[in-house]
Amino acid sequence: MSAIIIDGKKISQDIKDELKKEVEELNQKNIFPGLAVVLVGNDPASKVYVNNKKKACEYIGIKSFSYELPEETTEEELLNLIDVLNKTKEVNGILVQLPLPKHIDENKVLLSIDPIKDVDCFHPYNVGLVSIGKTDGFLPCTPAGIVELIKRTNIEIEGKNCVVVGRSNIVGKPVSQLLLGNNGTVTTCHSRTKNLSKVCQEADILVAAIGKAQFIKEDMVKEGSVLIDVGVNRLEDGKLCGDIDFEGCKDKASAITPVPGGVGPMTIAMLMKNCVKAAVMQN
Ligand code: GUN
Repeated sequence: MSAIIIDGKKISQDIKDELKKEVEELNQKNIFPGLAVVLVGNDPASKVYVNNKKKACEYIGIKSFSYELPEETTEEELLNLIDVLNKTKEVNGILVQLPLPKHIDENKVLLSIDPIKDVDCFHPYNVGLVSIGKTDGFLPCTPAGIVELIKRTNIEIEGKNCVVVGRSNIVGKPVSQLLLGNNGTVTTCHSRTKNLSKVCQEADILVAAIGKAQFIKEDMVKEGSVLIDVGVNRLEDGKLCGDIDFEGCKDKASAITPVPGGVGPMTIAMLMKNCVKAAVMQN
């Protein structure tokens, strides 16, 4: 079988076009969505991500407010900025790019963002809402992007054996909850899982969020399964690759996401969706 290659670039573009239209309609009602993007330090990858987020805002018609702070910024200074942004009416969403420099307590910073402006869906209040199945507020961006990719490829989640490899707070745990909320039968695996290959072989839908290049091999996946690759790893030759061995698995799966161009672009599209939602909720 040759798998459908799930085109995250195209699907994310469709979502951005839908949002662009929605923002035009909101503008008619005098609602102008705004996102504050806060970057602390000089991490090159974070700079690229932040620029991509600002570009997406511009395309959709969301006003972005950019704060690029030096590495030496103190925790207090950052908390003061967030306090101001929490109170600024034009700012509907606040995004603090992670990771933060080591001298700043990430949890403290995430807790300081007003939950109604928490477009990353990292605040424990919003995490809690998602975990009790309330999905009409903010959704975690990468996990929601994964569910959207599956649904827009007309793949049913209900009743399927979904195996998530990885239990991070940003991807593994929340994607497990969203799949469960869509009536999947979910198993969350991690580094201490016994017989990982055997568990993966049972998956109708396999989500790989491990952070190890080409970790999932052909002999670990079921014939006809749907393979979602969250990994972004660099091979020795400089090429990007995912956590799934794409070439080895693509003829066994029924659908598979490529890296790049699969899950990656969806994260930003869903962030933009949360920003528009934030503006609607606050007006
Ligand atoms: N760093 C890596 N992924 C993310 C994300 O989704 N949001 C933020 N704010 N920082 C990140």
